[in-house]
Amino acid sequence: MSDDSDSDPSGETADVDAGTDTDTDTNTNTTTETDAAADEATADDRVPVLLVRGDREFLIEPGAEQGTDLGVLEVPEDVQPGDTVETHLGEAFQVRRLRGPDLFHQFERTGAPMVPRDVGLVIGETGVSQGDRVLDTGTGTGVLAASMARAGADVVSYERDPEFADVARENMELGGVEDAVDVRTGDLATILEDGGLESETGDGTDLEPSSFDVLTLDTGDAADIVEYAPELLVDGGFVAVYSPFIESTREVVETARAVDLSNVRTRETIQREMQFDDRGSRPSTAPVGHTGYLTLARNV
Ligand SMILES: C[S@@+](CC[C@H](N)C(=O)[O-])C[C@H]1O[C@@H](n2cnc3c(N)ncnc32)[C@H](O)[C@@H]1O
Repeated sequence: MSDDSDSDPSGETADVDAGTDTDTDTNTNTTTETDAAADEATADDRVPVLLVRGDREFLIEPGAEQGTDLGVLEVPEDVQPGDTVETHLGEAFQVRRLRGPDLFHQFERTGAPMVPRDVGLVIGETGVSQGDRVLDTGTGTGVLAASMARAGADVVSYERDPEFADVARENMELGGVEDAVDVRTGDLATILEDGGLESETGDGTDLEPSSFDVLTLDTGDAADIVEYAPELLVDGGFVAVYSPFIESTREVVETARAVDLSNVRTRETIQREMQFDDRGSRPSTAPVGHTGYLTLARNV
């Protein structure tokens, strides 16, 4: 999706409430220092869980309270996926852990997040997996970066908007991948133009030539970064560029050809929803599900 749109062309946005607030105070007057340290460790380790009932979905931290139209949910500190929690009115919710496609609905949104099917295409077409190093730009909400990390990759992701970058770092924690995704604040196109591949600051953020297995781009200026793909990627590495618009896609294709990437190909990502009802079965008459164009190329 584009960096200048927050729209959700897939219509996949769930009617959900990220109820992560907690008023619970775990410290009491009788708490010893050791207990306080243990409590602190527990609070730091708290992983929010989803409480689900039909279409209702709430993301809540263990120990927190959440008001719902079916009553108040009090989530135990030791809640586990698979448990059932009842509201004070006796209405049952199932507890689930956050899974891949939930990231799209539950991450705090900044730059338009990639929909799950397009994440699947990027991972499937590039084969991102355990041990791969991925360079991703821009981070935006961080759905693609987090999904690739959950597939096992180490991801360096650049975001030029400092506030977006901060939100993305929090989203990485929510997705449990804060150690695998290094969200860096900066404009990658400018960094590369300014000699980013030659700089040797030694501060751990240098872009080493030929050090990435996959380059994923979801920005309007992707063509400016594709220019550097042969230097950034290992031999045989992949570039995957996602764009909602045909104009920037053409620029990417022309640049990829100009720098001699191989197997350059573009596909529109589109899916037709099917409708099954009493009258029969057919494709939905809702608008066609175009989300964007995915351009793939290889450094061989
Ligand atoms: C469409 S969003 C990316 C969404 C992301 N793929 C996801 O799944 O959540 C594009 C983001 O790229 C950032 N951006 C655009 N050009 C950039 C550049 N040259 N360097 C770093 N970030 C850039 C924008 O600020 C925006 O947040």
